[in-house]
Amino acid sequence: MKITPFSANCGATVEDFQLASMTDDELANLRQAFTQHGLLFFRNQELSPEEHLHFARRFGSIVVNKFFKTTKEHPEIAEVRKEKTQQTNIGGGWHADHSYDDEPAMGSILVARVLPKTGGNTHFANLYAAYEALPSSMQERLAAMRAIHSNKHLYGENGLYRLTDLADQLGGMDRVGDATHPVVITHPESGRKALYVNPGHTVQFEDWGFDESRELLEELYAHVTQPEFTCSFNWLPGSVTFWDNRCSWHIADNDYQGQMRLMHRITLAGSALNAA
Ligand code: SIN
Repeated sequence: MKITPFSANCGATVEDFQLASMTDDELANLRQAFTQHGLLFFRNQELSPEEHLHFARRFGSIVVNKFFKTTKEHPEIAEVRKEKTQQTNIGGGWHADHSYDDEPAMGSILVARVLPKTGGNTHFANLYAAYEALPSSMQERLAAMRAIHSNKHLYGENGLYRLTDLADQLGGMDRVGDATHPVVITHPESGRKALYVNPGHTVQFEDWGFDESRELLEELYAHVTQPEFTCSFNWLPGSVTFWDNRCSWHIADNDYQGQMRLMHRITLAGSALNAA
């Protein structure tokens, strides 16, 4: 198994390794790499849905997304599907999976199943690096703050996704909800500090007004999405990505209109997050 950084601040590539036949020693190395990089890329994997599930279960316990359709055979595998005829894609804005839950998802394992000829990249951002590069005055300002995360504006009645051609794919309108988390967390495994707000789900800061929250959130988002904290992954048949939602964001390009893209996603359960 060979692990090399993908870019200066963003992810690592794991080579000479098959997820489907991982040994216990390789699993231990992979855990270490996941804690260190928070984002792993794999190529040329032969991973059936059953092997995808098996790998996920060896790493942690699975938490099922409340809104996405799942595959018929496996209710733990969510489909990130865009049909040829659809205009809107799932995950087309920066976000961290399930931050609207009290115990947000630890990680997500995304497997390419059907890819467009070109396009459909996924971009990632490193929230450790972004936090560490903030001026110390901003770090101190954020230290005691908490933020409200929600999914109502996306999946609730008249939520953004409900108004698009993705609406038919989504269930669970009655499962919407909010959670409050520290704005700066100590990552439960690495012990590093990470900024924990994201454009998709963070609504506002606790005890702040909406407009003043938006102003600071937009400033933080502009900071995080600078090229030095982000990277872009081009999917090929056999590609798999595994990211840590506590220290990264992701966004899927929607630049392949008229073509289909289907990914299988398994999300791993996390725990309540502690302030730094
Ligand atoms: C997601 O947001 O989990 C999906 C990302 C992608 O489809 O690339």
